[in-house]
Amino acid sequence: MKKRELKVSAINNGTVIDHIRPGNAFKVIKILHLDNYKDTITITSNVPSGVTGRKDIVKVENRALSPEEVSSIALVSPEATVNIIKDYEVIEKGNINLPETIYNIIACTNPLCITNHEDVPTVFNVERTNPLVLRCQYCERKMTEKDIIKVMG
Ligand code: CTP
Ligand code: ZN
Repeated sequence: MKKRELKVSAINNGTVIDHIRPGNAFKVIKILHLDNYKDTITITSNVPSGVTGRKDIVKVENRALSPEEVSSIALVSPEATVNIIKDYEVIEKGNINLPETIYNIIACTNPLCITNHEDVPTVFNVERTNPLVLRCQYCERKMTEKDIIKVMG
């Protein structure tokens, strides 16, 4: 093991979200609604990664992620990787693709938007990816990364 690699314990079964932007592990937990998860979650924040960088890691035991959940991670950390673990082995490793539309994941910041008054799901079109810019399909409100983080609570 290289000197700057930190040893973190392996999991038996579940999902490892790796290479999360440093400090964003808690936002990943929030966006996946894992705040009240009943099995083990290991959060590792700001571990050295590569020569100069740092990263966060979230390990969720005995839980798979739906494709929608995986793509929602891109809202807070598009460079993250999702590893499926079975019997201690990485059986699948994938990058995250930001979808063209973000369906029913985050609220619109426009207080007058219909999505904040009636029981309709939010829909945002991805207008730019870096930096991320979304546009509400109902009211056309523009949402930047700062807005997105704000409405995630
Ligand atoms: N991991 C884990 N439990 C296991 C196997 C792997 O928690 N039983 C975690 C590792 O700690 C790592 C991630 O899953 O954070 C990916 O594992 P692996 O592919 O073995 O690591 P790397 O080759 O370093 O991955 P990458 O190339 O994506 O950085
Ligand atoms: Zn709106």
